[in-house]
Amino acid sequence: MKLPKDILTIPQLSRQNIERILSDAFRFKEYKGAPKARDQVLEGKSIALIFEKNSLRTRVAFETAISALGGHPIFLAGDNILYRAKSDTSRESIGDITQNLDRLAHGIAARVNNHKSLTDIAGYSKNPVINLLCNEHHPTQALADLMTIQWHKGKTTGLKVAFIGDGNNVATSLMDICAVMGMDFSIGSPAGYEIPRKFQDIARSIAAQSNSKLEFTNDPKKAAAGADVIYTDTFVSMGNEAESKKRTGDFKAYQVNAETMKCAKDDAIFMHCLPAHRGDEVAAEVIDSKQSVVFDQAECRLHIAKSLLYLLYK
Ligand code: CP
Ligand code: NVA
Repeated sequence: MKLPKDILTIPQLSRQNIERILSDAFRFKEYKGAPKARDQVLEGKSIALIFEKNSLRTRVAFETAISALGGHPIFLAGDNILYRAKSDTSRESIGDITQNLDRLAHGIAARVNNHKSLTDIAGYSKNPVINLLCNEHHPTQALADLMTIQWHKGKTTGLKVAFIGDGNNVATSLMDICAVMGMDFSIGSPAGYEIPRKFQDIARSIAAQSNSKLEFTNDPKKAAAGADVIYTDTFVSMGNEAESKKRTGDFKAYQVNAETMKCAKDDAIFMHCLPAHRGDEVAAEVIDSKQSVVFDQAECRLHIAKSLLYLLYK
C-alpha cells in the first residue's frame, strides 16, 4: 500500500489508504513512549514546518512526531519567509522557497491561508507535502477525528456524524472522510455558511460509491437527530476575524448545548477540533461533560502525525 506523495485533501486518499493510516496510528498509540527502532524512518532527515497561521495541537503533534521517528523538525513562521514585515511584498516566491527546501530538507508540512499555496508547493516539491490546514481543508484533523470515532465507537461504519455550525475547512474534511469510509454525515449550518457546493459535489460522488448518506440542512436539530457523533468548530475561523460580530449573530441558533445533545443518541459523543469557545459554538455543559472526547481527539493528532510520516517515509 502506497500513500500519494502529497497529503493535501481527504478525497485523494482511498479507503485502504485511510484504513492503513488508522491501523498504524493505533499501533503508535499502544507504544505510549518512543516508537521501535524500525520506525525511525526519519533518521538523518529534516522536515520543514511552515505556519502562516497560529497553531497549538498541529505544531506540537508534528514536531513531536518528527522527533519520535528520528527526524528533525524545522519551524518556519510564514511571515519570516513569505512576506517582508509590514508589507504585502513577497520576500521570495513559493517556487524558490520550495526548491530551496527541496535541497535543504526532506519534506514540507504547511499551514497556509490559501489552498493554492499548497498546490503550488506540491507542484515544485520532489519531497512529500502535507496540508496542516488551509482555508478549505484540514485533512490531518479529519484523520484524527476518524481515529477518535473508532476509539470510542469501535467502528467507522454504520454511524451518523452530525456537524453543527460553519461549513468550513474542518467540516469539509470531516464530510470527505465520512463519504470515503461510508459513514452518514449531516451538517446543519446557517444560510450562507454551507459547505461550498463544489466540495459537496465531490463528496456526493464519493458517497454514491461507499453508501454514505450526506445531508445538508439549515436546521441544526434535524442535523443532530439520531446522531452518534455531534461535532462543532469555531464560528470565526482564522482569517474571518473581521466578520466576528456578524457571525456571532448569524450563528446564534447553532450553539451545541444540552438541547442539541438531546436530539442525538443517548450514547452520542461530542467532538470539537479545538480551540473551543465556551458559550459561543459550544456550551460548557457539553464540552466539559462525560460525552465529550475532545482531548482524546487532540491526542489522536499525534498518533496520526506519526502514522502519516511513517507511511510516507518507510
Ligand atoms: N485543531 C487544530 O488544528 O488545532 P491547532 O490550530 O491548535 O493546531
Ligand atoms: N476552522 C478553524 C480550525 C482551527 C483548527 C480555523 O480554520 O481557524
